[in-house]
Amino acid sequence: MCGIIGYVGEREALPIILDSLQRIEYRGYDSCGILVQDNSADGKFQVHKSLKSIAQLKNNLAESEYTGTIGVGHTRWATHGVPARRNAHPHFDCEGEIAVVHNGIIENFQALKEGPLSNCRFKSDTDTEVIAHLTKKKMIKTDSLEGFELQLKEAVKACLSELMGSYAIIVTAKGFDGLVAARQDSPLIIGVGDRENFIASDVPAVLEQTNRIIYLEEGDIAVVKKDSIYIENNDSEVKRNERLIPWTTEDAEKGGYEHFMLKEIHEEPKAIIDTLRGYLSEEGICLGLECDARRILMVACGTSYYAALCGKYMIEHLAKVPVQVELASEFNYSDFVLDDMMVMAITQSGETADTLMALKKAKRFGCKTVAITNVVGSTATRIADDAIYIRAGLEIGVAATKSFIAQLVIFYLLGLFLAKMPKHRLEERISDLELMPLLAQVVLDEEGENIQKQAGYLSNYANAFFVGRGVNLPIALEGALKLKEISYIHAEGYAAGELKHGPFALLTEDTPVIAIMTPDSTYDKTVGNVKEIKARGAPVIAIAEQGDEEVEKYVDRVIRVPKTGAIFSPIANTVALHLLAYWTAKERGCEIDKPRNLAKSVTVE
Ligand code: AGP
Repeated sequence: MCGIIGYVGEREALPIILDSLQRIEYRGYDSCGILVQDNSADGKFQVHKSLKSIAQLKNNLAESEYTGTIGVGHTRWATHGVPARRNAHPHFDCEGEIAVVHNGIIENFQALKEGPLSNCRFKSDTDTEVIAHLTKKKMIKTDSLEGFELQLKEAVKACLSELMGSYAIIVTAKGFDGLVAARQDSPLIIGVGDRENFIASDVPAVLEQTNRIIYLEEGDIAVVKKDSIYIENNDSEVKRNERLIPWTTEDAEKGGYEHFMLKEIHEEPKAIIDTLRGYLSEEGICLGLECDARRILMVACGTSYYAALCGKYMIEHLAKVPVQVELASEFNYSDFVLDDMMVMAITQSGETADTLMALKKAKRFGCKTVAITNVVGSTATRIADDAIYIRAGLEIGVAATKSFIAQLVIFYLLGLFLAKMPKHRLEERISDLELMPLLAQVVLDEEGENIQKQAGYLSNYANAFFVGRGVNLPIALEGALKLKEISYIHAEGYAAGELKHGPFALLTEDTPVIAIMTPDSTYDKTVGNVKEIKARGAPVIAIAEQGDEEVEKYVDRVIRVPKTGAIFSPIANTVALHLLAYWTAKERGCEIDKPRNLAKSVTVE
C-alpha cells in the first residue's frame, strides 16, 4: 500500500523525507510526492510530484529549492486513479492551504464529492482529495497560532467523522508549526526524536533516525510538533507507550546483495535459528500460550495462507488437532460457523486488511484469537488476545521469503507444543528441529549454482506448473506464487494428482512442470503423475533428495535438497523454490524488489 512520512523538527526536512520514502518504497511505487513547508510566517508549500523512483527524485531535486523543517512525503500504490502526477500525493483544498497524504481508501468519496463538496474544484481522480477539501470546509477562521492548532485538529476530526473507509493520514496547513495525523484501519506510527518527531506508515521509514516508536491505535488523532506529541481518542487525551524497536538500519539495507529478496533468502537459516531460539528452553517449547485448542481455524492471505496450509499438515500430523484454513478475504463474507475454535491470524506484516477483518470477525463471535506475525506492535497483535512472533527480522522484499520459512517453524513448534508428548520424545523432535537451519544452508551453499542454471532454462517459458503432494502441496503453491509474482511467468500450483482432472489440457513441450518429489509415502504416486506429465510432452524439473538416483529416470532436470524426514522437507524445498523464482526473475531482467502492481503489505480489502 502507499507509504507516508512526515517530519517536524530543526533539520532540513527534504533529505529526511526522501531517505524515509526510499526505505518504504516497497509499500507502493507507481508515483511519489513531497511537500516542504518553508520557514516563513506564511509557511509556503514547496511541492514536487513525480512518476520517477525516489532514487531519481533524490538526484533531481535541488535541496536548496525545498528548504524548511516541516514536510511530508508519499509513495503511491494506485487505488483510485491511474498512476499520474495529478494523482500523486499530497492533495490540497481549493486554495492550496491544506495538504494531505493518505494510505487507505475513502469509500464514500464519490458521495462527498457530489454532496457537501460539490462546489469544490477537484484536480485528481483520487479518493484522498476529499479529505483536504472537507478539512478546509470544517475550519473556522482564527488569528492566533494556538487557536489555529485547535481549529485544525477539530477540523480534521470533523472531516474524519464523515469519512467511511480506512485511512492513515498526515495533514499539514500553511503556517502551522506541526502536523496532524490520524488512523483508522491503516497503520501509522510516530518516531520520537530529540527536538524532532516523525510520522510514518511503518517503522523502517524512520529507523535511520530513531528506534523510539509509538504505535497509534484505531481512532487516534495526533498533533505532532518538534517538541510535543499530543494524542487523543474519542475526544479525550490518551497516552500511548513508546517502544524500543530492536531492528537496525542494517536490517533495512541490502548488505552487499543486489536485491533485498536475495539477501532475505540467504537469511532463511538465520530466521529459522532466531525463531527456534525464541521458543525453546530447558523446559521444552514455550510459546507463551495458554492453549488447549481442540480445533484451530487459520485465516491468512497470499504466502501466509500457503504457510497456514502447510501448518495444517504439520499440526494435524504432530498433534492430531484438526486445523481448518481459510482465505481471510473469503472468510470475512462467508456464513462460516465459528464455534469453540481457536482462531489464528497468520500475517507477516500484521497489517493485511483482509486478515485483520477476519480477526475482528472471530472476536465478535467470542473465539479466542492469536496473531502469528513478524511485526511487534502491529495491528493484528493489538486486536488478537495473544501474539506469537515469528522472528524473521525485517523483511523488505515485496515477495515474502524468510517470513514464510519462519512461519513454518512456528507451525512445527505449535504442532509439538499441542502434541503433549513425553519429554524424551519431545527432545528427539526438538533435535530434528534444530537441524532445520542446516538443511536450509545446505541448499544455499551446495545447490545455488545448479538452481541458477535451472532458472536460466525456466526463464524461457511463458507458463509453468508446480506440483506437490501432502505437506509439500502448499510448497508447490508457494513456489508458483513466488515465480509469477516476480518473474511474471504464468505459474500455477497444483496437487500432483489433480493435473489429470483438467490442467493436462494445457500440457505441451512449452509447459515445464516443477515437481516436488520428496520420498514420502506418496512418492510412487507422484512418480506415476510425473510419467503421465512426461507422456504429454511437458518437461519436468524435479526437486528431489540427495541420493535419490531413481528420480533421474523420470525427469529432465533435477534440483537437489538434503535428505530429511518427510515432515521437515518443506524447509529445504522452500529455499530451493525461492531461489528458483529469484534467479528466473533475474534472468528475465525483472524489477525483483518492486514487482509491478504489487506492494508489501495490503492494507485495503
Ligand atoms: C507474497 O510474496 C506476497 N507478497 C503476499 O502474498 C503476502 O504474503 C500477502 O499479502 C499477505 O501478507 P501478510 O503476511 O503481511 O498478511
